[in-house]
This record gives sequence, C-alpha cells and structure tokens, in this order.
Amino acid sequence: MARLAPGPSGLKLARTLRAMLADPLPVLDELQATYGDVVELRGPGVRLVVLNHPADIEQLLVGHARSTSKGSSVARMTRGMGRNLFTLEGEAHAERRRLLTPIFRPRDIAPQARWSRERAEATAASWREGEPIDVGAQMDELALNAMARALLGRDYDDEAAVLAGLVHEAVAATPTLLDPAFPLKARLWPPHGRGIDALARRWDAVCDTLIERAMAEEHARGEGPPDVLHQLLAGHRSGTALLDDQQSLREELRGLLLSAHETTALALTWTLHNLARNAEARARLTDEVDEVTDGAALRVDQLGELRYTRAALEETLRTHGGTFVPRGAETDLPLEHAGITVPAGTELLASMWTVHRDPRWWPEPDQWRPERFLEPDPARPRFAWFPFGGGRRTCIGMHLALQSAVIVLAQLHQRWRLDAVAGDQAVEPTSNVLVRPSRTVELVPIAR
Ligand code: HEM
Repeated sequence: MARLAPGPSGLKLARTLRAMLADPLPVLDELQATYGDVVELRGPGVRLVVLNHPADIEQLLVGHARSTSKGSSVARMTRGMGRNLFTLEGEAHAERRRLLTPIFRPRDIAPQARWSRERAEATAASWREGEPIDVGAQMDELALNAMARALLGRDYDDEAAVLAGLVHEAVAATPTLLDPAFPLKARLWPPHGRGIDALARRWDAVCDTLIERAMAEEHARGEGPPDVLHQLLAGHRSGTALLDDQQSLREELRGLLLSAHETTALALTWTLHNLARNAEARARLTDEVDEVTDGAALRVDQLGELRYTRAALEETLRTHGGTFVPRGAETDLPLEHAGITVPAGTELLASMWTVHRDPRWWPEPDQWRPERFLEPDPARPRFAWFPFGGGRRTCIGMHLALQSAVIVLAQLHQRWRLDAVAGDQAVEPTSNVLVRPSRTVELVPIAR
C-alpha cells in the first residue's frame, strides 16, 4: 500500500521507534523538522501517523471522536490502571462520562479549593529563608494530598502513606506498560506482568477500605465539603448512587487518583521553575496576588481576578504541558487539511509538544511569556493549545487542576519568592508521556 505521508523507513524507522520509547520529545521535534505537518512511521507491524497541525488535530479529536479509540498504549495501561474513565472505550466510556461530568464542573469542584489552600499554606510554612528546596518533590507531595483530599475527603488520612506509595509505584511501572512489546513479553515470561497485577491488587484493597468507610459514614458526614467519592456514593442505601458496583468504584477511584496527581504536580513544578527564571513575570504575579488577596487567605470567588497567575500556568502548559494525545482509528478517517484518509487500524499521535512550540502559532516559541494568554490572538487556531486534550475525551479534571494550581501558586507567593540557585542552568524537559524535569529542580525561598 502506498505511503500516506513522508516519514522514516528501514533502519531509520527502527531507530526512531526505539528513541521514541526512551524520550519522545527530541524525536517529535526532528520528525516535524524533517517531514512536516503529517509524518508516517510505517514498517512491519507498525503504522503510526504523527499530526503536527492544529486543523488535523481538531478533526481527529473532535470530528472523529466517535470513530477513534485511545489506541494501543492506553489499552495496555488498563492492566495497571484498571477499567475507568481514562481507559474505557465506546459506550462504556460515554456512560461513565455522563455519570462523572456533573461532579467536575467548576461550580461543583469549587468547595475543593479549601484542600489546595490548606496544603499550600502548610508547605509554605515549612520553608526556611535561603534553604534550597526540591520543588519537584514538594509539589508532588502537595498535589497528591490536595487531590486525594478533593477525591476522597477527610477519610483519607489513615491511608495517606500507603496511597502515596502506590501512586509512585504506578508511575514507576508506566514505562513497562507503554512498551508495545509488553503483552507479548508478559505472555512469554509471565513474571514480567505479575508485578503489575500485584500492584493492581494492592490498589483494589486500599480503595475497598476507602469505599467501605465512605459508605459507613455517608449518613454521618460532618464538616468539610463533599468530596468526589462521597458524591459518587451518595444515596447508595436507597439504591440511587451514581456508581454502586464495587469493582467499577474501586477502579474509577484508582484512575482518578492516578490521573490527578502527577499532572498537577508537574504543572506546578514547571511554573515555579519558569517564574524563577523570569523576574519580571514573577513580580507581576506577586503584585497581582497582593492586590487581590491583601495578605488574607485566598477565597475561591477571587480566583477569576488572578488573571496573570492563571496565564503563567497556561503558558507553562504550553511550554511544558504534555507530549501527545494518542488515538486509534476504528474506521477510515479523512483528514481534510492533510488531504489524506487514514485507514482503520492506524495509530495516531496528536503532537502537543510540536504544536505548542510552532512559530506559526506562537511567535518566539522558546520565550516563556504569560502575556500571550492575557489577550489571546483571535487568529490562532483552536487546537494550537490543547494541554487537556479535546473532544469527548477532554480531561475531566481540567477545572479542578486549574483551580488547585492557581490557588497553590497564589498562596506560595503570598509569603515567598522562589529564586534559582546561583549559577544554575534552566532544567531540560524529558518525557515518558508526561513532561518531566530531567533533573532535580532546586529553588531558594526568599521571604517577601
Ligand atoms: C494540569 C493537570 C492536568 C493535565 C495537563 C491533564 C491532561 C489530560 C490529558 C491530555 C488527557 C487526555 C485527553 C484526551 O485523550 O483527549 C486527560 C484525560 C483525563 N484526565 Fe487529566 N490532566 C490534568 C489533571 C487532571 C485531574 C486533576 C484529574 C482528576 C480528576 C484528571 C483526570 C482525567 C481523566 C479521568 C481523564 C480521562 C477522560 C476521558 O477519557 O473521558 N486530570 N488529562
């Protein structure tokens, strides 16, 4: 069959695929620079199309939403992540999405702001003037606690340490599951998959405990806003709960905890890293925080006024937000801008990394400038920025993540300014789907 689009072949293809597994970021850059807006990686057992143009990406994610799956990598993730909103397909996904959507709208998640503010205050209180902090580790802990509280409520405290361990083990297992050869390797040598299965069982056990406790306490909930788990369970005694089958509940909980934590932690880490290297932007952000809060604890109704703080986060989601959004073609998919029809069975990657750094949509793309998001360019295509994906599978936690991250940034900057360590270079990004710092991000707190 003829090629759909230019791309590497033969030995070069094998090298590209291997490099992609190690770190997709430089590979995506090189593919776009060499082959353009549509790249085909095609060889024995491989048919992968990389999209680098917002028009094609919009058609894939929105126009073809019903004719695509999340692709083979997400299907492999199910063994470690469970069957939940993130991994379900087709009608099962649509049904779960209908069920969860009302819990994650901005007004529904507003009460969860409290947990992010409290955790940020505690983190800020633990810093000492001039003593460097490991920002990645600090934001990891903060985000895990804030998100687990929002999802599980106060009843999570006893399991906090166990959950933190499970989350980190699941993150460490991701590269194993992303390897396309994982199912074959696990079949030929079963121990290869046993660690993943054992981890899944430990998740089940801890989620069961959390669910049991939440059910027992449903009638006796005291102070504190309703968290996601209690909303899912409300009415289980009268048989009207949103989700009352135990297997679905525990796997949904696992999926939400895994989707919520590292994404938010990395967005915060990169934003603090970027602010520490842009004194003007940081001064503008701290001025805004002072003006809006006047030194008092931030209220959720003030969030809309923190426009520059939010822009700093959005600009970070452009420069360091993500790698790609995967899809699998379930039917033949015409892509009008590209002028091709992608045959059923093809895997596609909507490349966030290259689109977010394309000078056609982002002049001087390497400059980190929050101002871009204060007055967005109306000529910029809709999918020139899509850190939360798009279409029917857009990130359901988007509002929760943005709310939480803006609160944390504001609370931290009320007390501190974070400086780069003298002589330290900017930290380079690397990726295994999420964009991570290639080494520790150390910053120095200076009291304001
Ligand atoms: C800055 C933080 C976050 C980023 C950058 C992010 C990004 C993404 C992306 C790119 C997707 C895939 C979208 C697609 O396939 O079109 C996604 C899906 C998802 N995210 Fe997030 N996410 C973040 C925070 C969260 C939080 C806090 C939660 C928890 C509630 C969450 C839960 C989910 C779920 C459940 C899905 C699957 C949705 C579906 O397939 O219907 N995410 N996210």
